[in-house]
Amino acid sequence: MWWIKKALVLDPAQGYTGERDVLVKDGFILKVGNFLEEDVPEFFGQENLEGVKIVEAAGKYLFPGLIDVHVHLREPGQEDKEDIRSGSRAAVRGGFTSVLAMANTKPVIDQRALVEFVRLQGERAGMARVYPVAAVTKGFQGQELVEMMDIREGGAVAFSDDGLGIQNAEIMRLAFEYAKLTGCPIISHCEDENLAARGVMRRGEASARLGLKGIPASAESVMVARDVLLAGEAGGKLHIAHVSTKESVMIIRTAKKLGIDVTAEVNPHHLLFSDQDVGLTRTDLKVNPPLPTKEDQEALLEGLLDGTIDMLATDHAPHTWEEKAKPFPEAPFGINSLETALAVVWQELVEKGKLPALKVIELWSRNPAQRFNLPGGTLETGSPADLVLFDPAYKERITAESMESKAQNTPFLGQELQGFPVMTWVGGKLVMADRKVICN
Ligand code: DOR
Repeated sequence: MWWIKKALVLDPAQGYTGERDVLVKDGFILKVGNFLEEDVPEFFGQENLEGVKIVEAAGKYLFPGLIDVHVHLREPGQEDKEDIRSGSRAAVRGGFTSVLAMANTKPVIDQRALVEFVRLQGERAGMARVYPVAAVTKGFQGQELVEMMDIREGGAVAFSDDGLGIQNAEIMRLAFEYAKLTGCPIISHCEDENLAARGVMRRGEASARLGLKGIPASAESVMVARDVLLAGEAGGKLHIAHVSTKESVMIIRTAKKLGIDVTAEVNPHHLLFSDQDVGLTRTDLKVNPPLPTKEDQEALLEGLLDGTIDMLATDHAPHTWEEKAKPFPEAPFGINSLETALAVVWQELVEKGKLPALKVIELWSRNPAQRFNLPGGTLETGSPADLVLFDPAYKERITAESMESKAQNTPFLGQELQGFPVMTWVGGKLVMADRKVICN
């Protein structure tokens, strides 16, 4: 049982409620309110008072744990980069109490037994809640659909071939038809392989200057257009991963107006870095989709503010130092994000007045919970006590030693950031305090 006193509560379900006390009992939110000291014993019950732990939270924010709908945990098969234990420990350090684990592992998560394995490994780790995303097509081959109903029974919450675009439009159309029966969204990695043509950064002035092969913006937006049309026709749920172009934002805005059941996410790195930041030695900034132009960034932010884009998500993509030490064209795509994403969004967007704090929680907790039908996302009485206490003044230097992730491919390595979670609870259990994961 917890009595968190005088926290600045950010709950999108209720708006910013200011300084409040939060009471937690049996893993759930008991009450959020302004209580008199003498009233509290009544809520917990006199006989239970000895077991109540008090947290003095003045000056710190308390919000529902963040839900990241896009992480790569690499298990099974690439445990040198990350595993479910290290990834879910990194998650709670970063303020994430739930994560959706992508299916591009080795083997690909395309069978019920593999989905169950990911779920059970998540439970064993006992940190963030780990929800498996299963592949859309067997072996990520883009040819044959997985057994969606069976896989859903095994605990998958969505289907995605993330990492690869599904090139065959008829397969994608069928995927919407079948996924509809499961109630799960399809998360689309929108990338036309012919247009992308093995490029390594966004095509434009910067790619020409660096002599690197470019990926045109259309490689993404053409597929966004295709997929909203297919989802509209089939009546399925579509979630678009890592939106990075202004044209994609425009198409999603139009699709929503037409009543198509589409949601979308933006990754913090696409808001904070542009193609102008890419350099031949900056493989830490090599990511897919590639870093956009400044104009795209403005459209992405506008989309987040006007409701076109529903979510923030990290696309946490750990890679080993050796791989990222390769020359730019050969290094793998991906940025390690779970432990820095909230801090940089806070420092660069919230503190600079570009994104309101409450909106961040809506984008990273409430909306993901609603779209993927997950517990959490709110502090209403009876909700699971997935909570984050966030100290906007806390400064930390990002180092290999401080990180829980096995990989260090973050552009913030060696930098000091400000604004970090200092306590994280999952289902009422304290899993991180004073920036350290609590072992169980
Ligand atoms: O940059 C990326 N890395 N984009 C993806 O779509 C996949 C991911 C990975 O798995 O490394």
